[in-house]
Amino acid sequence: MQSTFNHENETKTHVAMIMDGNGRWAQSRGMLRIEGHRRGMETVRKMVEAAPELGVGTLTLYAFSSDNWKRPAAEVEALMRLFQLYLKREVKKCIENGVRLSVVGRRDRFPQRLQRAMERAEEASRHCQRLHLRIAADYSARDMILRAAQRVASDESLSRELFARHLSGEPHDGEPTPDVDLLVRTGGEKRLSDFLLWECAYAELFFTPKMWPEFEKSDFKQAIDDFRHRERRFGEVPVAHANAA
Ligand code: IPE
Ligand code: IPE
Ligand code: MG
Repeated sequence: MQSTFNHENETKTHVAMIMDGNGRWAQSRGMLRIEGHRRGMETVRKMVEAAPELGVGTLTLYAFSSDNWKRPAAEVEALMRLFQLYLKREVKKCIENGVRLSVVGRRDRFPQRLQRAMERAEEASRHCQRLHLRIAADYSARDMILRAAQRVASDESLSRELFARHLSGEPHDGEPTPDVDLLVRTGGEKRLSDFLLWECAYAELFFTPKMWPEFEKSDFKQAIDDFRHRERRFGEVPVAHANAA
């Protein structure tokens, strides 16, 4: 492991990524969009490998939005097959590398086989602590907020922290998932597309024109370096300026 590259002992950062541009990447090369998704899976593997060395403790990847069901059936089916393949191929490696895998979003609209593979992957990697990999699938931030609100509608003692736990759908006895520190979107668009609306309240945003299949570990490192040079103020006045007029 390269020492200049290694941030593993620093405070862990939560990075969220909108993995956009697979289709355009493929089409601009005369390939089918599906080939772009296949290549995009390689990028996922590279990012999961790089994350712990870059000081990232939680990595949330937007794999499939609830609005993506509106795409042609053949593309949706291909994405399901790739998801299943990813879980089959990568879970063992995730566990070896200390990666805990969770799937966030709705489950019930996925094929039964895929739902079972998700549960198995979560169960088998539950004890891993080096990186928490969250895959957002059939995910809509607005639906997550709405469902959490419905679950807790009459609880007046509800705090932001507790609400955030309801949002993530995780058990209330473990470590809570932290807010997003850095949001990266590939593919050139500058929008959130219904991703982590609550959790990104104070996230730093990083947009890149690179398409997801061409996004490399060095690009991830560049985004992190850029993030570490930002001054995060959370609504406060920076300490150095606090006594100035
Ligand atoms: C992101 O790439 C992957 C998914 C949404 C599943 P796109 O498929 O949106 O690629 P573009 O944006 O059309 O190029
Ligand atoms: C967002 O990308 C969803 C994922 C990357 C999974 P989209 O391509 O679906 O978003 P829009 O349609 O450009 O907003
Ligand atoms: Mg897109």
